[in-house]
Amino acid sequence: MAIRKIAQLGEPVLRRIARALAPAELALPNTRALIDDLIETMRDADGAGLAAPQVYESVQLVVVEGRDNPRYPGADRIPLTVLANPRVTPLVGKPGEALDDVDAISLFEGCLSVSGVRGRVRRPRRVRVEALDESGKAVDFVWEGFRAAVIQHETDHLFGTLFVDRADSRTLTFLREYERHVPVAERLVDGGGPPGLEAKGGRA
Ligand code: NI
Repeated sequence: MAIRKIAQLGEPVLRRIARALAPAELALPNTRALIDDLIETMRDADGAGLAAPQVYESVQLVVVEGRDNPRYPGADRIPLTVLANPRVTPLVGKPGEALDDVDAISLFEGCLSVSGVRGRVRRPRRVRVEALDESGKAVDFVWEGFRAAVIQHETDHLFGTLFVDRADSRTLTFLREYERHVPVAERLVDGGGPPGLEAKGGRA
């Protein structure tokens, strides 16, 4: 296992569409090593998720995990989840229409590839996730709340999209200013969950 270097905003790999993995590739030693390194790198950097392109590997692989995370205090926990070729489908709202507040999760997101910046992103709060798990088996589940936002953010990485592309640009803030000026109650607003920071947990 190794902690890998994290690509920063401007690296072309972050803007490429990553290659899908064949199920059999998940058993290969190189892929196993990449998965282990993604987990170790995510944990070392206090990330809630990490996508392979962020470590210069342009393949469709993501890891997510929500522990007591100093970068997202109060957010719900997410079990360690490794997914290849994830496809995320919103289960709320209508395509092309603005999301109702009750269907949205609004989170000041950050990204290990955009160091020191936060910005508010509104996303569907309930999504279907179809993917392969670590063993190459197809999985299909529903996530909501904080973990729904995280899996959307990570899946975006596989298609060359960063949270700054989706953020309300007037909310972009450096970390020091975020801590000073963004009230805690506004950092994570889950329209369908309980009030405050207690984002509603999903199902895996
Ligand atoms: Ni990111």
